[in-house]
Amino acid sequence: MSYKITDSVSWVGKIDWELRSFHGEELSTHKGSSYNSYLVRDEKNVLIDSVYVPFGEEWVEQLRKEIDLDKIDYIVANHGEPDHSGGFAVLMELIPNTPIYCTANGAKSLKGYYGKDWNFQIVKTGDKLPIGKKELVFVEAAMLHWPDSMATFLTGDNILFSNDMFGQHFASEHLFDEFVSHDELVYEAMKYYANIVQPFSPKVIKKIGEIAAMKLPIEMICPSHGLIWRSRPNEIIELYSKWANAYSENQITIIYDTMYNSTRRMAESIAEGIRGAAPEVTVKLFNTSRTDHSDLLTEIFRSKAVIAGSPTVNGGIISQLSAILEDTKNLGLQGKLGGAFCSYGWSPAGVKVIAQKLTDAGFAMVGDGVKAQWKPTEAALAECRNFGAQLATHSAEENQAPVNE
Ligand code: FEO
Repeated sequence: MSYKITDSVSWVGKIDWELRSFHGEELSTHKGSSYNSYLVRDEKNVLIDSVYVPFGEEWVEQLRKEIDLDKIDYIVANHGEPDHSGGFAVLMELIPNTPIYCTANGAKSLKGYYGKDWNFQIVKTGDKLPIGKKELVFVEAAMLHWPDSMATFLTGDNILFSNDMFGQHFASEHLFDEFVSHDELVYEAMKYYANIVQPFSPKVIKKIGEIAAMKLPIEMICPSHGLIWRSRPNEIIELYSKWANAYSENQITIIYDTMYNSTRRMAESIAEGIRGAAPEVTVKLFNTSRTDHSDLLTEIFRSKAVIAGSPTVNGGIISQLSAILEDTKNLGLQGKLGGAFCSYGWSPAGVKVIAQKLTDAGFAMVGDGVKAQWKPTEAALAECRNFGAQLATHSAEENQAPVNE
């Protein structure tokens, strides 16, 4: 199946309606995804990126209906990860000498995955490939999100094929952004950014600056996953600029786990305290054992403060909370406040464990946290409400400078 994008560009990818996790089980994909491959026709025919390994055979079958494979003059591999290169393993058996344009690291990753010394043509930022009336301009994008990543700009149509950058895991029969819910699309783009791109935010800032300096007249952004940004191509670039700069919304997120509901009751009292002190703040509570971790990381990413709580377990904390705090540390978030609380029977050690994990994750801690023994008393719950109010007040003061929203 193919879809027309412009008179000279067709989408020839694969929509994966069934996908529910990505990177193994690491990232949830509730809405499925797509592996976007594009065919550019000019005096030369160019295929940009392919599809995930399990779809390689059917992708090539479909591609044959679109073009005589021998008429593909060039291949562009923006990224070697198997969700974009898997189809090449099948295709290159049929057209083995076709040149593949990629970065030096791209050639390494493709050789590493498929063990073949294909006809790699190494490109760098600013290199151009004439294809007739138009040309391709390559833009290296190392660490966005792999060392081999790059984007490709098509002059004339003014399309940036951005690969993973600006993508979303969002299966849709529609190709273009204007045909789906804007809120859902931006949420999926944010989730993608928070879980995959956020650790490389300094590179995002630099790369967006470099692309701006190249003065490419971008009219459309065609990522390798999800919808094409056609109606508002600048919007996703602006969103990436905001997300990369210590992003936060006026939201405080409480994450907790609980054994006998003592920690839950503390969490709810903290939320009550926040609401009382700052009713304009969005407060969200999540039990880490009952919440999808990729969604939770997205909520943490967008929050100005995160308050975490657990019962003490064997001198530590419940493993699901521990796991999400470890994942949070790996995101390299900046400019967020943290708070800790724990319930306990015999040892209040959990609160220190949580505080340390949040500190290690770059959060500025507010207070020493709150502890409650056994079933929280009215006095303990009042202390929780006070703690919530204290944190809300503190975060309001911290955010005298405008919060990115
Ligand atoms: Fe969509 Fe990095 O692969």
